[in-house]
Parts: sequence; C-alpha cells; structure tokens
Amino acid sequence: MLDRRFISSQSWGANIEFPSSRELRGSPHYVGGRYPCRSVAFVPRMILQKTAEVKRDFAVLDPFMGSGTTAIEAGTLANAVYGVEVDAYARLIATASTTPLSRQSIERLYRVLDDIEKAGAVAGDPKLRPSLANIEYWFTEQSFDELLSLKSYLFGLGLDVAEHNLLLTAFGDIIRACSKAERQSLKPYISTKYDKQIKPTIPEFQKVARQYLNAIEKLDPTDFCAIEWLGHDATAFEAEAPIDLAITSPPYINAMDYTRCIKLESAWIGTCDDASLQKTKSLQLGEASRRHQSVENWIDELCRSKFGRLLELDNARFGTAVAYFDDMAKNLSSVQQALTEDGKYYLIIGNSRLRGVEIETHRIIAEIAIMLGFDWSGYFTYKIKDHRTSIPRGDRGGKIDIEHVVELTKNKNS
Ligand SMILES: C[S@@+](CC[C@H](N)C(=O)[O-])C[C@H]1O[C@@H](n2cnc3c(N)ncnc32)[C@H](O)[C@@H]1O
Repeated sequence: MLDRRFISSQSWGANIEFPSSRELRGSPHYVGGRYPCRSVAFVPRMILQKTAEVKRDFAVLDPFMGSGTTAIEAGTLANAVYGVEVDAYARLIATASTTPLSRQSIERLYRVLDDIEKAGAVAGDPKLRPSLANIEYWFTEQSFDELLSLKSYLFGLGLDVAEHNLLLTAFGDIIRACSKAERQSLKPYISTKYDKQIKPTIPEFQKVARQYLNAIEKLDPTDFCAIEWLGHDATAFEAEAPIDLAITSPPYINAMDYTRCIKLESAWIGTCDDASLQKTKSLQLGEASRRHQSVENWIDELCRSKFGRLLELDNARFGTAVAYFDDMAKNLSSVQQALTEDGKYYLIIGNSRLRGVEIETHRIIAEIAIMLGFDWSGYFTYKIKDHRTSIPRGDRGGKIDIEHVVELTKNKNS
C-alpha cells in the first residue's frame, strides 16, 4: 500500500514524488523484466487505491496493457480487469505475471528447476527453432544449441498452461543474457568494442525462473483477478461489460520500436516470426512509418496549431505525429464507449521532441478528449526516478524525466 500522502496529494498540477521502483524488487512486476518502457507501478497503485476508497466493486481497463503493470496493481483491488495489447510477447508476460499458481503447481515447478540439468541431454527439436531471419547471427553455436535443448525440454514437460507460461516467460528473459547482444541497449546490438560475457543457459534459467516463482508465490490464488483480453488494437475494441476506470500509459510519438527491442526474446518463445513482426510493428501507435490516408479536419487543424513548425521542418515526422493523435482520438472514443456514466480515464504520458519541436502530448490528448465528450478533471506530474523504465525521446532529446497524468471523466451529456 502507498501511504495516505500520495493518495491525497493529487491536486491539480501537483508534482508527486513516488518511491524508487527498486522497492518493487521481488514482486510480480519483475516477471518479464526486460519488456521496454514499463510504467511506474506507483501511479496506477495510487489511482486504484483512491478509487477503492469510494467504490466497492469496480472494473478496470488498460488498453495499452504492455507487460501488465496496471493489472498486477488492480488484481486485488478491482473485481474485473480488462486489457488490450498488440504485442503477443507482452500479452504473455502480462498473463503470466497476473496468474497465481496453486501450492501444488509452485512445488512442481521448483522440482522441475531442481532437475533442470536434465535439459542439457535433450535433443533440440528443429520445429521449435525461432522463425526469424538471421537469428543465428545473435548467438554462439553453443548457446543456440543449449537454448533449443532447453526449450524442447520445457515443451516436453506436459505442464498446464499457467505453469508453462511462467517458465516460458523466464526462458524469454534469459535470451539476451545468453546471446552476443549487449544487455544494456534496448535494441539488440553486438558491440565490436567489448567482449560480451555470455551467460551459461541452464544456471541462468534456473536463477531467473526461481525468482519468478518466488514473485508469483506472492499472488493469492483465492483473491486475484485474471486479465480478460478485449482485443489487440487499442484504437478499435469493444467491452461487453461497463468499465469504471481506465488507466494506461500509451506509447510515445516516434519514440520506441517495441517489436524490434524484444524480437530475439519474442522469436525464441514463439510469439513472433518475420511476418508477424512486420504486422505488429505496423499497428504500433507512434511508429515512424505509421501514416493515415485521411484524418479528420479538426485533428489536422489542432496539430497544425500546436506544432505546425514541424510541418515546415519535416513533413514525414509531422505525418507520424498527426497519425498518432488520430489514433489516440480513436482510442479515446473506444474507451469512452466502454466507460460507465461517471467513468474515469487516466493517461500517463510524457512530451516528445521531434526535430527540436516540443510537442505537449498530454495537453493535445486532453483537448481531443474534451472534443469527444470528456471533462479534463485532474492533472499531476511526477519525476521518473529510475531509468529501468527509460524512454528515449525519438531524436536527440535525451531521456524523458517528467511524466504527466491526465484524468478525464466521461461527460454525462456525451
Ligand atoms: C508504454 S507501453 C505500456 C507499458 C505498460 N504500462 C507496462 O508497464 O508494461 C505501451 C504499450 O502499447 C502497446 N501498443 C502500441 N500500439 C498498440 C495498439 N495499436 N493497440 C494496443 N496496444 C498497443 C505496445 O506494444 C506497448 O506494450
């Protein structure tokens, strides 16, 4: 629980100082730890606790669910948790980190890990090779063979879905450490300057999977909401039941190529191949190549009035930014339809700088929301402390330090 200081300090424009995310070590937030741009868990935690003070039963949605930060926080407070997420690897992490395991399952998995040396003797199943062009480039022959043996072993264990998902997520998490690619860089990259210390596959898996089990043991199987997926595309989805509260951290404009950052992990666990990688990339909001054939006039005009200078400097980037706000307008409409009459939508977002032009993303989103029938009912900021969640700003702008939280309330007349 956060102390009351946070819950009551949410006045308009407040700058809230949250604890360091290091305090979450050992919690389910560490499952799937390498997923890029994870949110600071204290933000949804504060919003959820505040909601739980005034509502007994409520349903929560995160339409850009990523690795499941909102769902982990909502699991014990809400009575239904819904998600939308385009990336299959993220959906697997979010599902695994919010699925409690029974005592029996936990014990079975600890036994599997105690015995994991056996995996070394298993012949790698060629059908389980990652289906990505040039995948061998990223691994030594030895690591590649060891990973394929381990994966074949895990698939042959006959575990149930929840058990299998947790081990598969741990397997995804060791891929970078067992590859030639640097650990620090978000996108896979092999340094020619430094010799990478490649981790031995089995001990690394055993270590990570034990940490995951330890984290998942903390979820109460009798009192934790599983995520119900409403679809893959945040710009076009429908909810069957009304939602009281939506909390999300959408992508930044032109900032992060998620699919490329996690392609090695995702290919190894089988959630992407060459074809699906392109498809997912094309659906990613803020993706540089995303352009819309037609955009409603008022959105185009709003963008010209807010950052028209970018159009003079760089037509293509202006197009990316306009497509982003058009996508966000569609997302706001989908969320609005899903919300109850007094439902609230919290968006956590930082500004972007494109070709030196500062774009106040949170303010433009709020203005679009007002046009669509929301009231802009609250606003605060916080400083990102640990750059585990670091978010590159697209071009030359350094890291994002401040995030803005916009609270929207569905307008009763909308
Ligand atoms: C900033 S991240 C969310 C991080 C998340 N809160 C967490 O802690 O892991 C944004 C997410 O939006 C997803 N995304 C991008 N475009 C999307 C779309 N069209 N529909 C659904 N999800 C999308 C990305 O794959 C990414 O996982």
